[in-house]
Amino acid sequence: MTSTLVTNIRTLVTNDPSLGEGPLGLVEDAAVVFDGDRVAWVGLAADAPAADSAYDAEGRAAIPGFVDSHSHLLFAGDRTAEFNARMSGRPYTAGGIRTTVAATREASDEELGRNLERHLAEARRQGTTTMETKSGYGLTPDQEARALRVAAAHTDEVTYLGAHIVAPEYADDPAAYVDLVTGPMLEACAPYARWVDVFCEKGAFDGDQARAILTAGVAKGLTPRVHANQLSFGPGVQLAVELGAASADHCTHLSDADVDALSQSADTVATLLPGCEFSTRAVYPDARRLLDAGVTVALSTDCNPGSSFTSSVPFCVAIAVREMGMTPDEAVWSATAGGARALRRGDIGRVAPGAYADLALLDAPSHVHLAYRPGVPLVTRVWQRGTPVQG
Ligand code: NIG
Ligand code: FE
Repeated sequence: MTSTLVTNIRTLVTNDPSLGEGPLGLVEDAAVVFDGDRVAWVGLAADAPAADSAYDAEGRAAIPGFVDSHSHLLFAGDRTAEFNARMSGRPYTAGGIRTTVAATREASDEELGRNLERHLAEARRQGTTTMETKSGYGLTPDQEARALRVAAAHTDEVTYLGAHIVAPEYADDPAAYVDLVTGPMLEACAPYARWVDVFCEKGAFDGDQARAILTAGVAKGLTPRVHANQLSFGPGVQLAVELGAASADHCTHLSDADVDALSQSADTVATLLPGCEFSTRAVYPDARRLLDAGVTVALSTDCNPGSSFTSSVPFCVAIAVREMGMTPDEAVWSATAGGARALRRGDIGRVAPGAYADLALLDAPSHVHLAYRPGVPLVTRVWQRGTPVQG
């Protein structure tokens, strides 16, 4: 194994309070040593041990690679016209999912894989070193299973979302579609997935259907995560907490009881997806309310061709600070350690001995610039599992 010293880091975010200042575990004038794909040492540059090779960060800031815990990248087709219509005043209803389902069903495995890899590479260039992604645009057992098979070849965080919407063929018999999702489709998909998800929303799946789908997934060894309370108030968040889901995602419309449930849960993270509200011109979720109630918050892109076609975590960080009441420190934590919590991972989202060697250098003296300089491509070099993948 070869070791690499990254030195002359002006400000290092470790997310390990035992290594530095505050919740972000900040270390000034820092260095990091990688050994193979893991972090071997973190500390002051002046104390750094020798390594096989050295990289001079020239006074830039460094953060853990972003953990983007929610995306939908197994798709084909184009929805520019839908976005354009929306920006001319048409509301978002999630009905456009059918357009993507039709295009995705027509695409070859190679096409799906190429599209996925293109978006993963785009995300890596912006500092993302772990990305969860989901099925949900196939909606037949074969189509969902092949989407997950393609996904599993590119990322280890794969989610079965057969319950994205009721498949068009079952429009008149949603109960039969739930039987399919909890039966043969789950059977075909479970081998490729770690997680089971459901879009719990008016026009998609109600609370009882969502419960049946998540419970069936659990029986097959999958762990739940839920698209909850995105377009309206509803049962999704409390169901997520009740079932011990890893994450309730969106959380845009929350009652006090929803916030209470999340704050009392040790298991369920609230994952906020501001790209979605941006691209659908909706009201942003209130991160401040959740943080003040003691809820663990993750920030993610929700990258998908309909409601949020961005792969940029820095963009989401800037929006979360400007529009959702988060401090820059909180937003950076949520986009790294928060994402790791939402994926129940201890080996990512922090820069500490034993964790994966996932690091992003910013062309800035501090991580605060991610919000202070919105829209500026600050990520200049990225290591993923110890390998330089950008810069
Ligand atoms: O997370 N909410 C449901 N699913 C996606 C939107 C998918 C689409 O519009 O294609 C979301 O926003
Ligand atoms: Fe989503």
